[in-house]
Amino acid sequence: MPGIVIVGAQWGDEGKGKLVDLLAERSDVVVRFQGGNNAGHTIVHGDVKYAFHLVPSGILYPGTTCVIGNGVVVDPEVLLGELAQLATQGVDSSGLRISPNAHVIMPYHKFLDVAGEARLGKNQIGTTKRGIGPCYGDKVLRLGIRIQDLLDEKILKKKIVAAMEPKMRSLRPWERDPSLDLQQMTETYLAFGHKLERHIADTTALVWDALDGGGHVLFEGAQAALLDIDHGTYPFVTSSNPVSGSAAVGSGAGPKDLDEIWGVVKAYSTRVGSGPFPTELDGQIATDLRKKGGEQGTTTGRDRRIGWLDLISLKYAARLCTLDQVCLTKLDVLSGQETIKVATKYRTQDDAILERYPYHQTVLHHATPEYDELPGWEEDISGCRELSDLPKAAQDYVAYVEEGIGVPIGMIGVGPGNDENIWTRAGRESAAGKLANLS
Ligand code: GDP
Ligand code: IMO
Ligand code: MG
Repeated sequence: MPGIVIVGAQWGDEGKGKLVDLLAERSDVVVRFQGGNNAGHTIVHGDVKYAFHLVPSGILYPGTTCVIGNGVVVDPEVLLGELAQLATQGVDSSGLRISPNAHVIMPYHKFLDVAGEARLGKNQIGTTKRGIGPCYGDKVLRLGIRIQDLLDEKILKKKIVAAMEPKMRSLRPWERDPSLDLQQMTETYLAFGHKLERHIADTTALVWDALDGGGHVLFEGAQAALLDIDHGTYPFVTSSNPVSGSAAVGSGAGPKDLDEIWGVVKAYSTRVGSGPFPTELDGQIATDLRKKGGEQGTTTGRDRRIGWLDLISLKYAARLCTLDQVCLTKLDVLSGQETIKVATKYRTQDDAILERYPYHQTVLHHATPEYDELPGWEEDISGCRELSDLPKAAQDYVAYVEEGIGVPIGMIGVGPGNDENIWTRAGRESAAGKLANLS
């Protein structure tokens, strides 16, 4: 069982990075397959905190090859900054490999992201303004600059001219910005290419060789199912496919290489940016959970919106991603709630009851959740390491969520630290559980 996929099952920031880190030490390869530096994956080792945006969350282990796959969009400046930061923390990132086919975020993509949001006004998506959408847009239009293009001045210049030509009108407010000067941009990006050259490799072949040799490959998702460009809350989504199937496309692996799929689920819900969020809370409970859970974006620092768990959308995500296991994170954050609500159905504007996630944007926008209410618990659970250590009400909550989603819960997070976990029997018996260094 060598290919293990880890994806978010809500709106991102579920704690994917932490799970990847737990499995990475004994993996051969960790590959990011979509998204870009809109992602922020946090790992906590004792007192040291790492936040990764582009670098895969396996980089802390020198024996593990980390891959930025073809499906990722790369801002070279951000990547080089991240590598420099890791070097100051004593992390050896010489094992990083970048696909020559990954697309490059250019200065004009970032300006266009900002301009697009300004144009949408109150309907804005709330993007991270990192140029993600415009970069994927150019990829689809076949006007993209790829990592391999950074190694050839003539090709790079020609491609920049072709890519910028249709954008001139939108870029007018920035026409004098030095970063958009053709010569300067070409030189800057050639220099990035030169600095990254030692990391550029045939990553598809590298992933195949690891899989075919019986090695362990972790596919690290960014964002999450409900932010998927096809299946999420369009247009309030990201511009890639964070669902599990994308792990194959974005790395070069085949669909049959995806042997075990984990969905990371926060014990409540959060969302950054705009878009429908039926179980959203305001008031004291939201404030408390935001504070206790540290719910500020790793990438933009924005406050995350908070809500109760939503089984309708989780069942949808579980099916979309064919989840084998769920990693339920941040259960510790719910301690101290008198009661905990979980949405089981949506009521539509015309009083119909939906048990399935609606495909129609308007229906979703007006859906109000029907809740089950469960008893909470007072105890601090961060020291619990076995399911039986948890207070009865917390055990009941876990069992309720497991049954509601219909997927075994293999691991439960009770704190940000890499040792603050409970592995269940299902988790220990899974391929990931065997890979994790469980004592
Ligand atoms: P990702 O984008 O899915 O990797 O998640 P982020 O790193 O953006 O956000 C998750 C946040 O929750 C990070 O600050 C983690 O350190 C933290 N975290 C992860 N798991 C747990 C947990 O079980 N309990 C608590 N309290 N924090 C956690
Ligand atoms: P990780 O990997 C949470 C959200 C943005 C915005 C929408 C589109 O850390 O879970 P984009 O910049 O991608 O065009 O923005 O997607 N978004 C995320 N939300 N976690 C993320 O990544 C996100 N990446 C993008 O807030 O609503
Ligand atoms: Mg994040």
